Amino acid sequence: MSTSPAPQSTAQAVSGHPPFRIIHVGDLHFWSLRLGPTDLVRKRVLGWGNLLFGGRGKKFRMEEARPLAGKLLEMRPDWLLFSGDFSSTSRREEFHRARTQLLPAAREAGLTVYTPGNHDAYTRRDLRRRTFAQYMGGEFHPVLDAAAYTGGEGAGLLAINATTSNGLGSHGKFSARHLEMAESFWEERRSELRLLVILCHFPPEDPPGVLPHDRGLQLREAQPFLAWLTDSVPVPKLWLHGHHHYRWLYASPTVPGLTYLNAGAPLLSRNGKPPDLGFHEIHVPSGKPPTVRTHYRGAAMEWLWWDTQVPEQPGKYINLENLAAQ
Ligand SMILES: [Fe+2]
Ligand SMILES: [Fe+2]
Repeated sequence: MSTSPAPQSTAQAVSGHPPFRIIHVGDLHFWSLRLGPTDLVRKRVLGWGNLLFGGRGKKFRMEEARPLAGKLLEMRPDWLLFSGDFSSTSRREEFHRARTQLLPAAREAGLTVYTPGNHDAYTRRDLRRRTFAQYMGGEFHPVLDAAAYTGGEGAGLLAINATTSNGLGSHGKFSARHLEMAESFWEERRSELRLLVILCHFPPEDPPGVLPHDRGLQLREAQPFLAWLTDSVPVPKLWLHGHHHYRWLYASPTVPGLTYLNAGAPLLSRNGKPPDLGFHEIHVPSGKPPTVRTHYRGAAMEWLWWDTQVPEQPGKYINLENLAAQ
């Protein structure tokens, strides 16, 4: 496991032509302990019990969302991307808290896109009714199935909603529609795209031996999509995800030029320590490979960051957790 390089202060100036800037925020898991009569669904009651008795409510420090939201507002990126799990059990109060905190930042970004996680489509009814889109609509551009955008410096964005009916499980699933949409976007824009960014809550590959518990494959039926990336998309590809609550960079061992970037869980407190509010800023400079800047809040409550080059060696794993805070 590699260690994190020495952090730098945000006060240091960044020189040269400003790159196209993407901010990627991971699993926030806003929660609420209020349970209404329509919430008496087995899975939601179990989730509620986990919030109340399982410690999830203590681990995700919602009160720290305000400084994080303030930082995101201040940064005004070209793209502000949320890879899902805004909520814990898909309830109105949870989405309302997320929306209230993040709306100013969403409004100030060039484009904001939100692709839901399994906790945002928690029950079959939430999945069917797409409650996440009802509560996080408008400025957040929630992805119902798949959506594509183009940005500066040849960056293309493919945002995929892979939530599915998973019983008491937590996995996601790709469909033929996702692949068709990706193929048509690529065919239409291939002459201008230099970097393909995929935004999806779930990753189809995990670095071996990193997660403390084996969750099994959490994105199912993605093989045709990975085969298409291998055969048809020769530009660098960044897969922005969350779901596993750790930050990392991981070069795919199977798909050339594909790198996974996990944004982790900014509000998560580990070992009783305050959450470090970490998130990623991806710089896409003109004619150069993208770099990843990890922002986090230090022990003295100051904002710090460090830069990491996207690894080229297949299978290379880089830990982007703030090790000092663990
Ligand atoms: Fe999560
Ligand atoms: Fe998740």
